[in-house]
Amino acid sequence: MVANRLPVRRTRGSGGEWLTSPGGLVSALSPALREVHGSWIGWTGVAGAVPKPFDHDGIRNVPVELSAREIEDHYEGLSNSALWPLYHGCLRPPEYHRHWWRSHVAVNGRFAQCAAELAPPGASVWVQDYHLQLVPGMLRALRPDLRIGFFLHIPFPPRELFAQLPWRQQVLEGLLGADLVGFQAALGARNFRALVERFTDGRGERGVINFRGREVRYGHFPISIDFEAFDTQAHTDAARQRSAEIHDQIGDGRRILLGVDRLDYTKGIDIRIRAFRELLASGAIDPHECILVQQAVPSREHVGAYQELKAEVERQVGEINGEFATLGAPVVHYLHKSLPQDELVPLYMAADAMLVTPLRDGMNLVAKEYVACRPDERGALVLSEFTGAANELRQALIVNPYDIDGLAERIRQALALPEVEQQRRMRAMRDAVRKHDVHRWARVFLDQLAETYV
Ligand code: G6P
Repeated sequence: MVANRLPVRRTRGSGGEWLTSPGGLVSALSPALREVHGSWIGWTGVAGAVPKPFDHDGIRNVPVELSAREIEDHYEGLSNSALWPLYHGCLRPPEYHRHWWRSHVAVNGRFAQCAAELAPPGASVWVQDYHLQLVPGMLRALRPDLRIGFFLHIPFPPRELFAQLPWRQQVLEGLLGADLVGFQAALGARNFRALVERFTDGRGERGVINFRGREVRYGHFPISIDFEAFDTQAHTDAARQRSAEIHDQIGDGRRILLGVDRLDYTKGIDIRIRAFRELLASGAIDPHECILVQQAVPSREHVGAYQELKAEVERQVGEINGEFATLGAPVVHYLHKSLPQDELVPLYMAADAMLVTPLRDGMNLVAKEYVACRPDERGALVLSEFTGAANELRQALIVNPYDIDGLAERIRQALALPEVEQQRRMRAMRDAVRKHDVHRWARVFLDQLAETYV
């Protein structure tokens, strides 16, 4: 495995112990990696000297060093201020700087070199996400014997946008170093083929691109969550009890609207708060009867666009509470922190309606986590049509988040959804996620990679 981040993070300070990071990717890939005594190459999340490779939970972790400068230029710069906004439909103007690109090439080269030194002859290497799109090409040049897979977790944009990228050809040729390139949605896969044909000498037909005498397969593999793990936790007494406590803390009988996101401008947090405010202002929702709990996980805090979003969301929360809250009863409860899973699951269980309103999102796993945590088949999911999840969770209350009136109406509907209707929709969505869980996702991708001809 080659990913920007290792599957572990360190508790406070460099002397702290390593803990497995939460998230579906780690739980999906760990069993397969353990079985083959595989390694996971990634960054620790901090600058400077890294520890030697170490084993944790049956997996060999191989840290790659990034300097403070490289974090600025490769991670915050090229990855998160150029590729991230570009691939998410230019929700913020991407910036292109040549010194960012040089750093990006150097860091991708370091990851590729590390994989080349580590991988046994004929091994499979799976590279993850937009930070490392050059790795497949670089690795193939170093180690033509390897089987290389690549998966992009975020949307892959259409030509009108991708064509802006000053290094578009290098990125495409980097991806074409893989034997199998995976996207979240069919649209991303189609965009990839069209762009390859426009900007490289690769030529495609259904699912295969011929590039310089090699066959590169591509397709869509929508990622998922560990359904079983969430479902099991939602069945425990501890989770039920905590969920009831949350209701008590918030106020007897008050309905709970919930948002759970990284604090990112792609997530539509500000739009959601605006729609909620309009519902309070118009009297459609009584501020004594309803609360919006918004958990926002701190993210990319050194990037300007994220600092601006934080200031805007916090301004909105202050404004709406100033206007509609009464003593001891805020209308928005805002948590700027990440929550452990044993707190998050009861929160999902307590929520009458879950608001997932991104302007653009490759998949959105929060939507899937919510349904996995509702074995009671209660609750309503308001889901943006611009998420990958909307392709699968068809029984959600689908919404165009740019349409504020439409979004407000959907929130109102969610709160008024009759129980039988909640049950019908939730049951269908739970079936979909149960069947297409993250283990199946990993198996399907790896099986297809194993079938590629090297
Ligand atoms: C998205 C990306 C991941 C990334 C995550 C958190 O889901 O696709 O690759 O790890 O955001 O962002 P961060 O910058 O903290 O790694």
